[in-house]
Amino acid sequence: MDATRIEEVVGEFVTLRRRGASMIGLCPFHNEKTPSFNVHPARNVFKCFGCGKAGDAISFLRESEQLSYIEAIKWLAKKYNIQIEEIERSPEQMAEMQAAESLFIVNDFAQKHFEHQLFHTEEGKQIALSYFKNRGLREETIRIFGLGYAPDQRDLLLRSARNAGHALDLLKKNGLCSQDGTRDFFRARVMFPIHSLSGKVAAFAGRTFSADKTVPKYVNSPETEIYHKSKVLYGMYHAKKAMRQQNECILVEGYMDVISLYQAGIQNAVASSGTSLTEGQVQLIRRNAENLTILYDGDPAGIKAALRGLDIALEQDLNVRIALLPSGEDPDSYAQKEGGVALRTYISEHAHDFIVFKAQLLSDEAKGDPIRKSALVKDIVSSIAKIPDPIKRSVYIKTCSGLLQVDEDALNAETNRLLTNQIKKKDQKARNQPGAASDSAPPDQGDFGWPDQEYPNASETGDLPDAPAVAPSGRAEKTRHEFQEKDLVRILVEHGHQWLEKENTTVAEYVLADIEDSIGSFEHRMYAKIVQTCYELLLRGEKLSKNYFLHHDDPEITSTAVDLVTSPYEMSENWILKWNYPLQNQKPPELNFQEDARQVLDRFKLDKLKKMCDINADRIKTAAQNGQEEDMFRFMKIHQKLNETRNAIAERLGTVVLR
Ligand code: GTP
Ligand code: MN
Repeated sequence: MDATRIEEVVGEFVTLRRRGASMIGLCPFHNEKTPSFNVHPARNVFKCFGCGKAGDAISFLRESEQLSYIEAIKWLAKKYNIQIEEIERSPEQMAEMQAAESLFIVNDFAQKHFEHQLFHTEEGKQIALSYFKNRGLREETIRIFGLGYAPDQRDLLLRSARNAGHALDLLKKNGLCSQDGTRDFFRARVMFPIHSLSGKVAAFAGRTFSADKTVPKYVNSPETEIYHKSKVLYGMYHAKKAMRQQNECILVEGYMDVISLYQAGIQNAVASSGTSLTEGQVQLIRRNAENLTILYDGDPAGIKAALRGLDIALEQDLNVRIALLPSGEDPDSYAQKEGGVALRTYISEHAHDFIVFKAQLLSDEAKGDPIRKSALVKDIVSSIAKIPDPIKRSVYIKTCSGLLQVDEDALNAETNRLLTNQIKKKDQKARNQPGAASDSAPPDQGDFGWPDQEYPNASETGDLPDAPAVAPSGRAEKTRHEFQEKDLVRILVEHGHQWLEKENTTVAEYVLADIEDSIGSFEHRMYAKIVQTCYELLLRGEKLSKNYFLHHDDPEITSTAVDLVTSPYEMSENWILKWNYPLQNQKPPELNFQEDARQVLDRFKLDKLKKMCDINADRIKTAAQNGQEEDMFRFMKIHQKLNETRNAIAERLGTVVLR
């Protein structure tokens, strides 16, 4: 991590411009027009202020390149010419490695085996290599895609893999042999390896030579730990770079289409392999390009296939266009016949915007049939409502209003109705996630020793009494707690290790000693986790450091920590705007952590006191209503104590407590 420069790592994937102490670019994790993706060279972290993604070089590689933790480290080691010494692994690590890596290793063996059969056996050359060449593939192309040949023999691969020492159960798991381990799965087929994003062989597809319609044209490897069909697009590994450069992805149907286009110089094509797009596949595309052009056969089946599943692409804010080929042609045949340049021209002349295309196509079908027409309008509007960008939406509404001859206001109204529904649904979802702010009812307060237990007396113990974790409160209240917890955890992460002169202790010890009782009642899941981690470190006598959190094994901790240290002012601004607390620390927090720590702590306490006051006030009221005088006076005493403490803190903070 010391050798790693975050701006160099990110810079390989995102164009960065310097802006002050940080660098800025377009976020690779979400779609944006104005850059909000920040890289902080000094802190060695990145953070997107648009989508909230944050982390270090390792988490960046894991997210953007879909690498495992270990793969990311290896990637960095390679970049910075650092030799990795692989130490002996624990049994669990071995098991985990074996699960994924050994599946890749076996596939790699099989790929080499098939390739050898293709190029270096008489049968392979005569049957398979000549087949590929007849279809116009050059040897170079065949090698780039790692194509191969599986001869019509019972157990050729099986025997040679076993001889090379590969475990039978791995061959079975990868679907390379029958489950009883006696026969090869791929026989008498030309072989297409399906690569992972980092170029390893995750699976295979085998195409028959037979014209016999009862033989399936393609057979595929089964799903495994390393091959999830719904997250893979054929050709992605080879297309990634061109896709980024051209900001466009061309989607075709077949393996042969991808390969032919690549050979013809159109290297940004991937195949959906005959199924409709999944969300995972669309995200894969969206990470590399903003524009998606679908290139399909012009037959009715091709058109229907093109329409299916495309709303998913709109949702991810891809600009979707469709180009239909002349009937009887597919991308492969067109590229072979006319060449890449002609195909490119054809695409640019025939690509139509997806929504406009759909509206035109269906409005022809619905002509003179009002019921079908109203269904059509709903269909189109639901596509439009999927587009996140409001400006794009309004352009589409205008266009479609003309095309469908429907009043623009009516289209707008219907779109807005759908949007409202979507937002409601999303809100619901977000609130059901752990750690998210929610309006749900407070948990049973008895859990926190309240109100059944005696209220501890603040003045006697010298400590602040513990409050129930959740006071009856609305969303604003809840958010405010979260801000406070955030501020506190930020102090711990950023300054925990620093020395407080006046108190003769570290910031972390000072803060944690004071809130020890409340550690269990943090509301925000991640803040709770970090506070708990700090506490345990201190108990074990270990040293805190900022880097400990910024480069933690747990990506959630890393991301939260980066979040905290990259927005030191956010908290204070929120306080001023929302809760009318004046800014005390005019110096930037990194120069002013002593004062900062004290204030954060005070605000945290103040908030807890406020909650207790509210609850106590209720108890006074109840006691008064029930005529329980003794109780009432006891609570009023508590009330007085709470108020005194509260005012003392408030005075220190220089704020006015309004209630
Ligand atoms: P060629 O006929 O050799 O040009 O192959 P192609 O890749 O162009 O195939 P085609 O256009 O017929 O089909 C498009 C894609 O659908 C293929 O690449 C496969 O991914 C998939 N596909 C077609 N037939 C089958 C099949 O029988 N089984 C499976 N699993 N997939 C198929
Ligand atoms: Mn084809």
